[in-house]
Amino acid sequence: MSHSSDDPRYFGNVLAQRLTRRSVLQGALSAVPALAAAGLLPFDVTSAAVAPGGGLTFNAIKGSKDDRIGLPPEYVADLVIRWGDSLFPGTPDLDTRSMVGGGLLTATAAARQSRQFGYNCDAIAFFPLNADNSSGVLCVNNEYTDDVLLFPEYGGSGGRDAWLEKFVVRYPESVAFAKASHGVSVVAVGRDRRRNGPWGADKTSRFNRRITADTPMSINGPARGSPLLRTRADPEGIRVNGTIANCAGGKTPWGTYLSGEENIEDYFGNFRAMMARRDLDPALHDAHRRFWLWNTASIHGWEFIDKRFDAALEPSEALRFGWIVEIDPRNPASSPRKRTALGRFSHEGANPIVAKDGRVAVYMGDDEKFEYVYKFVTRKPLDPRNPAANADLLDDGTLYAARFDASGEGEWLPLVFDANGRLNPASGFANQAEVLIKARAAADVLGATPMDRPEDVEPNPVNGRIYVTCTNNESRSGGVLEVTGRTLNMGPNAANPRAGNGWGHIIEITEDDGDHTRTRFRWEVFLMAGDPTRGKLITKLDELKPGKVDRQDTYYAGFADAARLSPIGSPDNIGFDRAGNLWIVTDGTQPHDNNDGCFACPTSGPERGLLKQLMSGPVGCEVAGCEFTPDNGTLFLSIQHPGEGGTVKDPKSHWPDGSDSQPRPSVIAIRRKDGGVVGS
Ligand code: FEO
Ligand code: CA
Ligand code: CA
Ligand code: CA
Repeated sequence: MSHSSDDPRYFGNVLAQRLTRRSVLQGALSAVPALAAAGLLPFDVTSAAVAPGGGLTFNAIKGSKDDRIGLPPEYVADLVIRWGDSLFPGTPDLDTRSMVGGGLLTATAAARQSRQFGYNCDAIAFFPLNADNSSGVLCVNNEYTDDVLLFPEYGGSGGRDAWLEKFVVRYPESVAFAKASHGVSVVAVGRDRRRNGPWGADKTSRFNRRITADTPMSINGPARGSPLLRTRADPEGIRVNGTIANCAGGKTPWGTYLSGEENIEDYFGNFRAMMARRDLDPALHDAHRRFWLWNTASIHGWEFIDKRFDAALEPSEALRFGWIVEIDPRNPASSPRKRTALGRFSHEGANPIVAKDGRVAVYMGDDEKFEYVYKFVTRKPLDPRNPAANADLLDDGTLYAARFDASGEGEWLPLVFDANGRLNPASGFANQAEVLIKARAAADVLGATPMDRPEDVEPNPVNGRIYVTCTNNESRSGGVLEVTGRTLNMGPNAANPRAGNGWGHIIEITEDDGDHTRTRFRWEVFLMAGDPTRGKLITKLDELKPGKVDRQDTYYAGFADAARLSPIGSPDNIGFDRAGNLWIVTDGTQPHDNNDGCFACPTSGPERGLLKQLMSGPVGCEVAGCEFTPDNGTLFLSIQHPGEGGTVKDPKSHWPDGSDSQPRPSVIAIRRKDGGVVGS
């Protein structure tokens, strides 16, 4: 189905409604001087409106297996900052030549890492420092460590439980190093625009900051102080050390960064012993059930050195992770805040948009097979005149999970204690804190729709619709499973219609009346990924029914010319340019076993769904981030885990330093050589 500009649901309508929000808009603009005086512009206040749709005139590149950044010839990629680059004067850059000899297994290396750019960069947010788009502050997630790419002795025979503890106990500095390379990096960046110079990091900026797995931060919102969040180190349940598994993210209209804690269960071990502890409150056991727990050793093995990661010894610590963390990039001395009102799950993007009445809706995904899509709506409206008044806006509001109906309609289901006689002690929830800590279980009770790994969930600022990337789900096969405390129907459903969904898909949501606070919406499939020249290229929405979509079938929002479409798999993070075009970066299997990349397509007009590949990443990486400068002259991307599948002694990638170097996760900036808009 294609859309025309007279569609009442369409951008013109939404835009008109926005323009009537005079008080909010005028207020937003009047708030700018206050924020600018603080050193950062809160959001794009400089760029004029752009005609929606179109503008993607670049010639698509072909997918590639090359160990380099592939781009059209008119484009260039600046290497902005690499893992291990120093963020502070006096701290040296990492010398990766030491790694083969175990150079990262020292206390000095760990101390330096806590002052260097972290590992495995993921989400990126750009906060402008000036109006000409030549400087800004980047907040970048550092999701996890691929330890086999860091430490030469890592690994062993006989299974993980047999060697991991031995390795970690022998090299405790490996845990210190890994913890220091997790979290978030805040770094000022800039370029000489008059000379069309490349982007680079400013190592002397007062905004630079590292937030690691040990940085103290507060627990905010309704679950603050819950008995389920209390530990020996924090008997009040109000403060926690660190943020981990920071995957996707977002930024608020008041100029802060939101970072999603995703695969937190990989960091906690010994759950079998914890579950066997009879002295614990059964509510505590119950709170853990909906995560895939490691009965013995965790993936990373930190629990052998830092006992707070041993679930049997500190049963509540894991419940203090899996939240959205809000960070103020303007104030390097501020404590990050975990926003419990937004629920606990494997958080991905948290993408806010201001609704008609000034309240703020935040769209979120839970990236696990058969998990849910969420949104949070603040109780109070944004106060555009007083940035400080918005500081804790995210502590008070309503969390919803999405149910997608076969009719093409859907409902946001409120995760509110005892609302409509549900989510109360009869269904296992003692209070609102428990509803939020056990958000997945609460969404189970309400009948939310299990999705194919919903990652980024982001509103399109031009047409107001929300796009949900479902990365993939090979397990979408059929049958019913009793697992992690729920009865799970694994068969295809209307919003996840493909069995064995190895390529992933994207859903487009339209809120009722374009109002982001509403609880009803309409939805349709926007993209069914794969290779459009291989299976059937479906062009009609009504053919996207469960049981009718084969593994290799594709759908590109109805676009019918397969020869003009780029193949794509595993859509993951997304972003939008000023014209409302959808930008997609990928994480996982690509058609023809090509490397991950970056793609774009219009969401409106005759070329709606015409997806083209702009960029190809180096060997073994996923591409993440996907953040534009306000003028769209630069697209920042994260190259995460280049060389995955290799080892320190046998690297599979030498990007970005070339020769025989170790691969380094890095942030790049994509620009047109002539200074034009990215996508043109
Ligand atoms: Fe960290 Fe959902 O990818
Ligand atoms: Ca991701
Ligand atoms: Ca995004
Ligand atoms: Ca992912």
